Amino acid sequence: RTARFTLDPDFTVGRVDPRLYGSFVEHLGRCVYTGIHEPGHPAADEDGLRTDVLELVRELGVTVVRYPGGNFVSGYRWEDGVGPVEERPRRLDVAWRSTESNRFGLGEFMTFLRKLGPRAEPMMAVNLGTRGIAEAMDLVEYANHPAGTALSDRRIAHGDKDPFGIRLWCLGNEMDGTWQTGQKTAEEYGRLAAQTARALRQIDPDLELVACGSSARDLPTFASWEATVLAETYEVVDHVSLHAYYEETDGDRDSFLASAVHMEAFIEEVVATCDHVGARLKSPKRLTLSFDEWNVWYQRRPNPHPFEDWQEAPRLLEDVYTVTDAVVFGSLLITLLRHADRIAVACLAQLVNVIAPIMTEPGGPAWRQTTFFPFAQAARHGQGTVLDVRPVSPAYRTEKYGEVPLLHATAVRDEDGGVTVFAVNRDRHRALPLDVTLRGFGLTEVVEHSALSDADPEACNTLADPGRVVPHAVAGTELADGVLRAVLEPMSWNVVRLA
Ligand code: AHR
Repeated sequence: RTARFTLDPDFTVGRVDPRLYGSFVEHLGRCVYTGIHEPGHPAADEDGLRTDVLELVRELGVTVVRYPGGNFVSGYRWEDGVGPVEERPRRLDVAWRSTESNRFGLGEFMTFLRKLGPRAEPMMAVNLGTRGIAEAMDLVEYANHPAGTALSDRRIAHGDKDPFGIRLWCLGNEMDGTWQTGQKTAEEYGRLAAQTARALRQIDPDLELVACGSSARDLPTFASWEATVLAETYEVVDHVSLHAYYEETDGDRDSFLASAVHMEAFIEEVVATCDHVGARLKSPKRLTLSFDEWNVWYQRRPNPHPFEDWQEAPRLLEDVYTVTDAVVFGSLLITLLRHADRIAVACLAQLVNVIAPIMTEPGGPAWRQTTFFPFAQAARHGQGTVLDVRPVSPAYRTEKYGEVPLLHATAVRDEDGGVTVFAVNRDRHRALPLDVTLRGFGLTEVVEHSALSDADPEACNTLADPGRVVPHAVAGTELADGVLRAVLEPMSWNVVRLA
């Protein structure tokens, strides 16, 4: 009952794009307001940004932040969020039935990013729901043009002398979804996205553009949506988006633990669809993927926080994550890494309070959810080249996905030649011994074996007990004669670092 695989420096998947460790800030619930921005909070700085949250986001290691939505963007007027705060209009946010005060907008977002440090890059979405080409062009001119035009001079008058230099742009959000304001057919969206892409490239040919793929693999339009949209946009975009959320349903934990099987198939099907369109167009170009929304999200659970329509910053989507959720979450990260050859960008949805690794209390503390740890560890140690990992593993039966290997794993070789193995044991009750044969690395030492697991699968971090769940060191992991021997605790996320 031992799982095993072999690593060889010559057998690789591809380089990790650092942007695999992105996240997402949407004007939704308390992600922005009382999440990252809370003037008057004891930890707020001169810009009203919570420094306790900034510190946690830095520790998380986020490299890209997508903004401002999400469903929100499809009814958003970006102009509402710039200029003197006291003159900004209050608007209905029809996506989340909230009131948007616009106290936070593009300038504040860029200040937040600057304070995060040089590693964090913005990813802006334009509204292709209720708006179109002209407004997207205006936003790019406002954000990126140096000076001497109406919109660039407006940015300067608003206090931002230097252009923001935003390279990465999403052409709308989930335009296939019936819930999306201004939903479109694939034909309508494909044409609009292509025209918008061409117009934005007329301003700056070097922008990186993302076309909307499907909002979920299980939608009836999946794959034909991508094929139709890409037939129009293939040569003028760089990436196509994927969104996926997972939750445990009907108490079927075994299937939930195998969620990555679904995610993996989704990625491979989107890659196949992209390449099919490329082949039809006889194009040498290869598109890459932007997995710009992924997470565990309990969409079927009722909101435990009562709220009224058109409230400002209500408590929405404030999922509290358990150890079980963190193990599944880790497995989703492993899936992204295993496809690093085609995934250029990925964004954990979202960053603070809203299905988030970081939680805050208004006027109170900020803390790490269980999912914080796998993300931070992967962002820190999962940089370099992904090795080709082909696990041989005992399997278990799941209702949704049939036979699934108990071991889910990947490995990344860093610049210094060190190797980090990321591994999940899906067995809820039993430990899983793991042997890894290392060929030709010259590694001799186990630097660390860290695991996230708990006797209580429902354990979580809360305001009352924010430090209940943290990763712990695992003793007894050995590297001898080119073989790593470890034991993966029941239902666990593991990081084994070798030097
Ligand atoms: O992340 C929450 C929501 O999920 C986003 O607003 C939307 O794009 C998706 O449906």
